[in-house]
Amino acid sequence: MNFSVNGRAYELALDPRTSLLDLLREHLRLTGTKKGCDQGACGACTVLVDGVRINSCLALAVQYQGREITTVEGLANEPELHPLQSAFIEQDGFQCGYCTPGQICSALAMVEEARRGVPSVLTPDLSVDHIDLTHDELRERMSGNLCRCGAHNGIIAAIEAALATRAAP
Ligand code: FES
Ligand code: FES
Repeated sequence: MNFSVNGRAYELALDPRTSLLDLLREHLRLTGTKKGCDQGACGACTVLVDGVRINSCLALAVQYQGREITTVEGLANEPELHPLQSAFIEQDGFQCGYCTPGQICSALAMVEEARRGVPSVLTPDLSVDHIDLTHDELRERMSGNLCRCGAHNGIIAAIEAALATRAAP
């Protein structure tokens, strides 16, 4: 099978039942993406596929051949961190860090969803072109990413800080 991950091409023989998460962690050794629940409940495994966030534990790798997969390892412009990664450090957006790669990938795609006009359950007017990412909208839109350390306030503060500096793409 052929995959493109973080701009790099990979070719490998793979059991067709392998999840995208296991492809990343066990076969490509990209262990930044975390396995929490392995059943779609926690968001720790969130990666980007063509810029859209998905739970990689629920995805069969075979379905994502020919797509551009981005993990947390692909976000930084080394030696510089991605601005949202820096904001997580500055705003105390983590404790143990286990959920953090998923939080960051999820937040990047979430901002794009809002820019495309994708509503959340809190969006008051479905006809508007521009959705204002208020504090409550951010919390709702990030509710699929759980943090067992309870760092949610810092996580939202980091996203808000990145948005305020227009650092989040
Ligand atoms: S590990 Fe995928 S949602 Fe929890
Ligand atoms: S920082 Fe520990 S689970 Fe989120």
